[in-house]
Amino acid sequence: MPTTDTTRRLWRDVSVFDGLSTLPEPMTVITQGPCIETIAPSCELSAEPCAGTIDMGSGGVMTPGLIDCHTHLVFGGQRAGEFESRLEGVSYAEIARQGGGILGTVKATRDASDETLYDAAAKRLMAMIDDGVTTVEIKSGYGLSVEHELRMLRIARRLGNELPVRVTTTLLAAHAVPPEFKGDPDGYIDLVCQEILPRASREGLADAVDVFCENIAFDLDQCRRVFEAAKAHGLPVKAHAEQLSLMGASRLTAQYAGLSADHIEYLDDAGIDAMAAAGCVAVLLPGAFHTLRETRCPPIAALRAAGVPMAVSSDANPGTSPIFFPTLMLNLACTLFRLTPQEALAGMTRHAAQALGESRLGHLTPGATADLCVWNVESPAELAYAVQPGRLRHRLLEGVLTHG
Ligand code: NIG
Ligand code: FE
Repeated sequence: MPTTDTTRRLWRDVSVFDGLSTLPEPMTVITQGPCIETIAPSCELSAEPCAGTIDMGSGGVMTPGLIDCHTHLVFGGQRAGEFESRLEGVSYAEIARQGGGILGTVKATRDASDETLYDAAAKRLMAMIDDGVTTVEIKSGYGLSVEHELRMLRIARRLGNELPVRVTTTLLAAHAVPPEFKGDPDGYIDLVCQEILPRASREGLADAVDVFCENIAFDLDQCRRVFEAAKAHGLPVKAHAEQLSLMGASRLTAQYAGLSADHIEYLDDAGIDAMAAAGCVAVLLPGAFHTLRETRCPPIAALRAAGVPMAVSSDANPGTSPIFFPTLMLNLACTLFRLTPQEALAGMTRHAAQALGESRLGHLTPGATADLCVWNVESPAELAYAVQPGRLRHRLLEGVLTHG
């Protein structure tokens, strides 16, 4: 993240998507230093920038900077071989049971140097920045030991310190049972709760805690133990929930006032009600749905009816979503899950911010953080309609121009 400056900038006659909807008329937007100062219909404001204000031009579409609230960007190796096996009919769960999948990436990640992991993640992240991302969440989960989980989080923090993007980190030590604890998941959960999580918290390396609740990962009781440890350390929780089967992790997450339940293809009505009551965000991951060629969609209509905020994220990872192209997720959320383009955009702005607990991000309103994008398109819906790199005209991170 660059340090902020005090520049005042002005855009004229832009079409503004404010994080929830598209404003009805052409707007003038002024930012001052790290904040949004004014958003008003152009017809109400003089088009003349006052002295000291930089005129950023007119036209185009302005949105909040995109927020990718669920990624696994730091990893070693790749899993094209697994992709081929799946195309031949072997399931993701079967590959995991054979010791491949996540555990394959754990080995490659442990074997890689810090520099190799950093450089590969930086390259992926730069592509996402060029596609409009201003905030990204990065999980651990391919280390699965004290040393390697903390190392992944340090690399994620370093990405945020050295690249023009805000990074939030999530400890996902409960992602898979590591080979050292084969047959003893409870023993590994002891290590997570007693050593990995306390150290990540003490060293300020984690902003949140995640679990993978699934038959091939951890059961509900084991996830509850991780949530208790997170609570004891004052860290918010979230879950990979109901991705392959209904385990009840969404309800559990809601009980712990969690930030979000993610994937949720198998979510039931009880889970939806619990999430609605707790203000827990539903994070939709169409890239994983697409890559695994799933057929069961998350219960979008029921989530919508219950008023559960829906975020959209890339789930960028080497197994289920090797896709580092955030605006493609807008398209997939519409085509695969039947979101409207406005819902998809809210999913990568306002609702993604909510999934990270960041209330000053993800919306364009006076006083909000000046993280924004101006796109060379005619309407916000075009961002979800066409799958096309190179549409970004300007990108502002806390008021600092980082693109254009
Ligand atoms: O979000 N479901 C579990 N975790 C990741 C996949 C990780 C992997 O396969 O490497 C996900 O889909
Ligand atoms: Fe994930």
